[in-house]
Amino acid sequence: MQKVGLVGWRGMVGSVLMNRMVEENDFGLIEPVFFTTSQAGQAAPNFGKNAGVLLDANNIDELKKMDIIITCQGGDYTKAVYPSLRQSGWNGYWIDAASSLRMDDSAIIVLDPVNKNVITDGLAKGVKTFVGGNCTVSLMMMGLGGLFANNAIDWITSMTYQAASGGGAKHMRELIAGMGVLNDSVSAELADPASAILEIDRKITSTLNSDGFPKDNFVVPLAGSLIPWIDSDLGNGQSREEWKGGAETNKILGLDGNAIPVEGLCVRIGTMRCHSQAFTIKLKQDIPMDEINDMISGHNDWVQLVANEKEATISQLTPAKVTGTLNVPVGRMRKLAMGGEYLSAFSVGDQLLWGAAEPLRRMLRILLE
Ligand code: HSE
Repeated sequence: MQKVGLVGWRGMVGSVLMNRMVEENDFGLIEPVFFTTSQAGQAAPNFGKNAGVLLDANNIDELKKMDIIITCQGGDYTKAVYPSLRQSGWNGYWIDAASSLRMDDSAIIVLDPVNKNVITDGLAKGVKTFVGGNCTVSLMMMGLGGLFANNAIDWITSMTYQAASGGGAKHMRELIAGMGVLNDSVSAELADPASAILEIDRKITSTLNSDGFPKDNFVVPLAGSLIPWIDSDLGNGQSREEWKGGAETNKILGLDGNAIPVEGLCVRIGTMRCHSQAFTIKLKQDIPMDEINDMISGHNDWVQLVANEKEATISQLTPAKVTGTLNVPVGRMRKLAMGGEYLSAFSVGDQLLWGAAEPLRRMLRILLE
């Protein structure tokens, strides 16, 4: 059995990964070794298999004994450990949730329902480093994979509605704390059906802009508001999250010299863990809607077409419905007034599953095949 080192298994993405690995019986196929940055020597967790004690995640000699390492520990850990581990001569497989190595020439971004061919070619050429993609990009490609696979897209814009979880666990807590503070500030008025709504609104606005409002993590209020900037400022009017859309999509597809323009604005909203996206897609030609539907729905087992009707849309195409599942519903599809080559679509997906943990465990399975 292959020795698989697990780093960052206790954090949010790591915990989702552990749950999925238990659900899919991945632990039955490996010899798991759990690493820690703070509790070496303590008992390792038991996910259906005794794994002894926790080992030091910064100990290169211990890491070197692994056939495969999966890390959800974050970019700082990768930057600190990966170069020394490779320099030490370790030639095992490194599977990483962090973005630091994503655009490295020696790394492949993994999303096997979309780019199994790129992964298989890479393995044949000796690639040993596999990185999960940006959540928004991975969810877009799971939803619209059929259009990409049929080379139907000329360009695409993605306007995002990204959940708090993309920032991390503390950000999710801050969102809910903010909701609570807002509610508390008007609870007496809410209990009185005769109270004036504009008075409630005035108090909510005053609370949102008060110094004490929870915003340590997002810097500005998210509950009751939104934040139209995600990740760093590249200085050219684009956020790093927006830049990733084009860069990672084309890397995932292996379209080096023939890139598909992917553009858009990335916006943080007050949902917990589902990212949503509104797309405008310029097709290469005027493809009939039934063919478009077939391309999209036939691409993978998780994409779900939602009829472009009110009832179906509001019941199936929302974070409340999708959260915690691997489903990637795609709806609101219609040809736009600009012409038959212009298509709209809207998708929702859990950014901790297909957007983070799931591609990693599936890469592990590919290595175990
Ligand atoms: N950068 C994403 C976000 C997280 O902030 O929503 C995961 O790729």
